Amino acid sequence: MTASPVREIGVGLVSVGWMGRLHSRAYRSVPFVYPELGLRPRLVQAADTAEAGRSYATDVLGYESAVADYREVLANPDVDVVSICAPNFLHAEVGVAAARAGKHIWIEKPAGRGAHETAAIRDAVVDAGVQSAVGFNYRQPPAIQRARQLIGEGALGRITNVRGRFFGGFSADPQSPRAWRFVRETSGSGVLGDLMGHLVDLVHFLLGPIGSVTASTGTFITERPGLAGTPDEGRMLPVENDDYANMLLRFDDSALAAGALGTLDASWLAVGPKAEYAIEVFGTEGSLRWDFERLNELELAIRRPGESLGYTRLLADETFPEFARFQPGSGTSMGYDDLKTIEAKKFLLAVAGQPSDTSTIHDGLASAQVLTAAEESAASGQWVETPVVPGHTGHVR
Ligand SMILES: NC(=O)c1ccc[n+]([C@@H]2O[C@H](COP(=O)([O-])OP(=O)(O)OC[C@H]3O[C@@H](n4cnc5c(N)ncnc54)[C@H](O)[C@@H]3O)[C@@H](O)[C@H]2O)c1
Repeated sequence: MTASPVREIGVGLVSVGWMGRLHSRAYRSVPFVYPELGLRPRLVQAADTAEAGRSYATDVLGYESAVADYREVLANPDVDVVSICAPNFLHAEVGVAAARAGKHIWIEKPAGRGAHETAAIRDAVVDAGVQSAVGFNYRQPPAIQRARQLIGEGALGRITNVRGRFFGGFSADPQSPRAWRFVRETSGSGVLGDLMGHLVDLVHFLLGPIGSVTASTGTFITERPGLAGTPDEGRMLPVENDDYANMLLRFDDSALAAGALGTLDASWLAVGPKAEYAIEVFGTEGSLRWDFERLNELELAIRRPGESLGYTRLLADETFPEFARFQPGSGTSMGYDDLKTIEAKKFLLAVAGQPSDTSTIHDGLASAQVLTAAEESAASGQWVETPVVPGHTGHVR
C-alpha cells in the first residue's frame, strides 16, 4: 500500500461529555488504524461550560487548550473540523455557526430538534461548502456493512418487510434524574429523536428512503427527580417527551426496498434489554438479522428449494468490511469505540477531499424528516408522507 502525504487536521470539540470523549479517542485512533491515509488529527481546542469537562479535555484527552465558550473554538484559525457533541438544543446553533465559520462538522444525532432545525444546518453546510458527518454509528459495524452488500446483491430476493427494535434500558430507573434528555426545550423529542433516529437511518442505509409512516408515542415515566446540585434537587419534575415510540412504514419508490413494508419501535425504558438495537430484513429468498448486543454476528438464512433451513450465524472476520483493520482473526470482537473510529476516518477522508462513504447532514435531515412525520402522525393518527432528501446516501435501486 502506498502512503499518502501526511495531512494535519486541526480538531475543535464542543462539549466533553460521553460523546465528546469518544470522538476524541476516535480521532486519536485514526492514524494507528489507517496509517497509510496520512491523516493526522491534532486536538487543538475543546469547549465545555463545566470546568470538569475542560480539565478532562486538556489533562486526559490532550487538547492544547480548553475554553468555556464554544465560539472561541469556531474562531480558532488552527481548527479545521468541529465535533459537535453538545446536548441537542445547541446542535443547530453551533452547527450553523461552525459551517459559517468555514469549519467542517461532525455532529452527533439528532442533528437538530426535528426537521426544521436540521434543514437549517444542512443549508449552512451547503452554503459554506464544508463537509459534514452525523453520528450514525450503527451504519459502521462490519456485519451491517456486509448486510448492505448482501441486500444490494439481491441475496435476499425481493425485500418484503423490515422489523427494527432499538430497546435500551438506560432510562428504565424512575429515580434516574431529569437530565436534559427529558426536557423538550433542551432535547426536542425523547426516544424518538434518540434511538428511533438511529434506527430510521439504519433502515435508510440498508433499504433506502422511507416514503410514509404512521406512528404512536407514549410517556410512561411521567416525572423524575430534579438534578442533584441544582435548585431542582429534591423535587419531582415532569418528563416532557416520549420514552416509547413505534411506527409502521412504507418505502419510497426510489428505495431499494420499494414496495416493502416495515415496523419499528424504540424504547429507553426497557427492563431486560440493555442496548438491544436490532434489525431484521425479510425477502422472498432469504432473511438476515443483527443486534448491537452481538455486534460481530450477522445471522443469515437463504431459502433452498426442498430444504428447511433456519438462520446461520456468521461471525465477522477479515472478509467483512473494515474488520481486519482492528483484529487479525474472527472471534475477536470489535467494540463501540471501533465504530466511532471508522466514522472518524470516513469524515476525515471527506475533509481531505478523498472519496468517502461517510454519512452526511443530508442523511441527518432524511432521518429527521421521518421523525417529524412520526410526531405529526402520532398527533393526528394519520399516515404522513416524508419527502426524500436530495443528497442522502440511503440504499437506492
Ligand atoms: N451516536 C450515539 O450513539 C450517541 C450516544 C449518546 C449520545 N449521543 C448524542 O450526543 C450528544 C451529547 O450526548 P452525551 O451523552 O455526550 O451528553 P453528556 O450529558 O454526557 O455531555 C454533555 C456535555 O455538554 C456540556 N455542555 C452543556 N452545555 C454546554 C454549552 N453551552 N457549551 C458547551 N458544552 C456544554 C456539559 O457540560 C457536558 O459535558 C447528544 O446530542 C446525544 O443525543 C449520541
